[in-house]
Amino acid sequence: MRTDTPPTIRLTDYAPPAYLVDAVHLTFRLDPAATRVAARLSMRPNPHAAPGQDLRLDGEKLTLRAAAIDGARIELNPDAEGLTVPAGALPDGPFTWEAEVEIAPKDNTALEGLYMSKGMYCTQCEAEGFRKITFFPDRPDVMATYTVRIEGDQPVLLSNGNPTAQGPGWAEWHDPHPKPSYLFALVAGDLVSHDDGFVTASGREVALKIYVRPGDQHKCAYAMDALKRSMRWDETEYGREYDLDLFMIVAVDDFNMGAMENKGLNIFNSKYVLASPETATDRDYELIEGIIAHEYFHNWTGNRITCRDWFQLCLKEGLTVFRDQQFSGDQRSRPVKRIEDVQMLRTRQFREDAGPLAHPVRPQEYIEINNFYTATVYEKGAEVIGMLHRLVGADAYRRALDLYFERHDGQACTIEDWIEVFEDATGRDLTQFARWYSQAGTPRLGVEESFEGDTYTLTLTQSTPPTPGQAEKRPLVIPVAAGLLDRQGAEVVPTRMLELTEARQSFTFEGLAARPVPSLLRGFSAPVILNRTADDAERAFLLANDTDPFNKWEAGHALTRDVLARMVRAPDTPADPELLTALVAALDDPALDPAFKALVLGFPTAEDVFRTVRQDSPPPDPAEVRVALIRLDTALARLIPDLPERIRALAVPGRYSPDADSAGRRALSGRLLGLLTRLEPDAATARAVFARTDNMTETMQALGLLVRSDNADAALAAFHARWKDDPLVLDKWFSVQAALTPPERAVETVQALTEHADFDWKTPNRLRAVVGSFAMGNMAGFHRADGAGYRFLADWLIKLDPVNPQTTARLAGAFETWRQFDEGRQALILHQLQRIADRDALSRDTTEIVGRILD
Ligand code: PHE
Ligand code: ZN
Repeated sequence: MRTDTPPTIRLTDYAPPAYLVDAVHLTFRLDPAATRVAARLSMRPNPHAAPGQDLRLDGEKLTLRAAAIDGARIELNPDAEGLTVPAGALPDGPFTWEAEVEIAPKDNTALEGLYMSKGMYCTQCEAEGFRKITFFPDRPDVMATYTVRIEGDQPVLLSNGNPTAQGPGWAEWHDPHPKPSYLFALVAGDLVSHDDGFVTASGREVALKIYVRPGDQHKCAYAMDALKRSMRWDETEYGREYDLDLFMIVAVDDFNMGAMENKGLNIFNSKYVLASPETATDRDYELIEGIIAHEYFHNWTGNRITCRDWFQLCLKEGLTVFRDQQFSGDQRSRPVKRIEDVQMLRTRQFREDAGPLAHPVRPQEYIEINNFYTATVYEKGAEVIGMLHRLVGADAYRRALDLYFERHDGQACTIEDWIEVFEDATGRDLTQFARWYSQAGTPRLGVEESFEGDTYTLTLTQSTPPTPGQAEKRPLVIPVAAGLLDRQGAEVVPTRMLELTEARQSFTFEGLAARPVPSLLRGFSAPVILNRTADDAERAFLLANDTDPFNKWEAGHALTRDVLARMVRAPDTPADPELLTALVAALDDPALDPAFKALVLGFPTAEDVFRTVRQDSPPPDPAEVRVALIRLDTALARLIPDLPERIRALAVPGRYSPDADSAGRRALSGRLLGLLTRLEPDAATARAVFARTDNMTETMQALGLLVRSDNADAALAAFHARWKDDPLVLDKWFSVQAALTPPERAVETVQALTEHADFDWKTPNRLRAVVGSFAMGNMAGFHRADGAGYRFLADWLIKLDPVNPQTTARLAGAFETWRQFDEGRQALILHQLQRIADRDALSRDTTEIVGRILD
């Protein structure tokens, strides 16, 4: 057990920085084992802080070679976290701090600070990585201009801003926009660029460059196109123009997260940049579009207006996710995008909110900030902004955002600033609404109805279950979009926004001829769980008739989930014929597009069904949940006539294109292929698709089905032979086996995969492809009754922790649901969690996550 408990950082302890930095000058002499970093900082006492304080600079894993104040050498002894210059050694006014440090990027396996990926240098400074590059007040409310000189023999030497000078073996950069240190970036390597340009609304010419490793140039076109569309969209929808002459994106193979919005020099996990029809799936294209947009949008929501401290993370992340969701909805199908976003919210954020890691959108305290890049901060943070949008309306939202940019450009802000902007722009009192930022947990919405004379009364109730550290919950402002249908399926009351503010509140609708059928929470107007015990018939009715596409899907989804839950509780329950008929009717409905049909026909996840069963029964065995899913799938397959013809009819003619319509047809045909494969013991059709297709979407659909049905040996070998030199495609080969191998053999399979010559476990993408896909994507395999899945995960967490704490802590989240399971499994998981917690020198990241899970 680690003996030193890491300290807790609290929002209420915020104090302004004692010293500010106006300008940063950095010189890097690159070397894998001994890079020299010389820093010159123009500093001054902060007029808004107490005078005469010591100067504290953060610094980790730095070897200090020399330091000086105003040119005079000073001897200092750094501790493990930084150094202190006593106030007595500082002049009264502004001064210059200089330091030369040495660092070893090749040993930096944590991928935070300056590190190496496949021979190239790159940086990751959010949240607190800059302190691994030089001594600095490494906090987002210290904003400075940066001038950077890089010396190295790499052909490409990049930093933020605009290039100012270069020669053989060196380059200089200047970023005129003051920025926090977490947005600093440097890249050096043997890279090639895919180039393009953009003219902003006011006529500024911007050079666009995507840097990749030689050989990958032909995989940048889609990302570039997405970038240009994002730039235009931010101008038309938010009035925001780009503000430098150059915008660069660099793709790197070793990256802990998705991508990073460094000013003018975004650094991306190569997975979210590189795409070609042969190597990327429709889903990959969609993610690339969304993440390119996300990082670009940060230029205004994150960079120009940044966070005062890391508790305010949702200020930039929630808003930027909301913006990228709006963008993707505009580029593709809005309802389909909304359904996908809600599915993701439910699988990741509702899961988090229901367990030991639950925390508010703006947390009150943390031990390691890296642990708070969560679904709650990002996805629920985006939902909170979506609710604001719904409550004030699109026009007022735009006015508020204009005011936000006008008032706060160049500042480091708080959620209070954000709320105040909306109050000033709309005249609304948002005191109660702001509770969404401080109260954790997913609210439950209850519904009571009555009908008398011609008046229909809807009584809504709300309550939020307790979460760690928050026993008492108060009512929130919940926008409930509601419409009413008559028994024939006609809409008698179009969507109205009900504002639920009390614990219990009634809303009346007059002038109705008969009792209507309510369609509630249309468009998923709030991130809540609607506890409405609708019967199957009503759900089938809404699936057939609701005019709101989200609720139409939701009705079918909830019906399928409930039927599955019944089949788990009572294994003799036949697959409900009414459900099957309704699903086939949706498939045959000419008014629905293929992407939407694919979502209606897509079954809930095993975890979703598990949770539904658990609500009123003892925890089921995940293997039984899987059996129910297979039974329902098979029954549906039997009921759909002409599956092969339907699949053929969906084929997209011509060359592959990743557009939403074509992707939708492929999604539906993939789903139908999955059904057909239930009826084919040798998976003949999937084999044929695998052999013939020229795009990765269909290849992975077929390969997944072959793995799932135990028919994959030849296909896996062929796939490996063809793609062994493409790391992103090889990740798919690993991941499909980890997620879809039948549970009886899943642990053995992932064990063997981790012994494979291509299993490069220090690259997070590869590790996640096996360990993550298994623990988060193969429920019955991971939760095997003898605990072998748990042991496998714990072994890897223990091995990875000293190498890459951030990725270890994220993967440890796979255990967060442990109390949902039967006692036997709980005991087995507890044992593994304790094994991890007992390790010496466990990282701060993993200590915090495991500690909270165990609490
Ligand atoms: N700020 C990045 C984003 O949301 C995420 C990130 C966080 C990347 C921490 C790296 C490290 O776009
Ligand atoms: Zn972000």
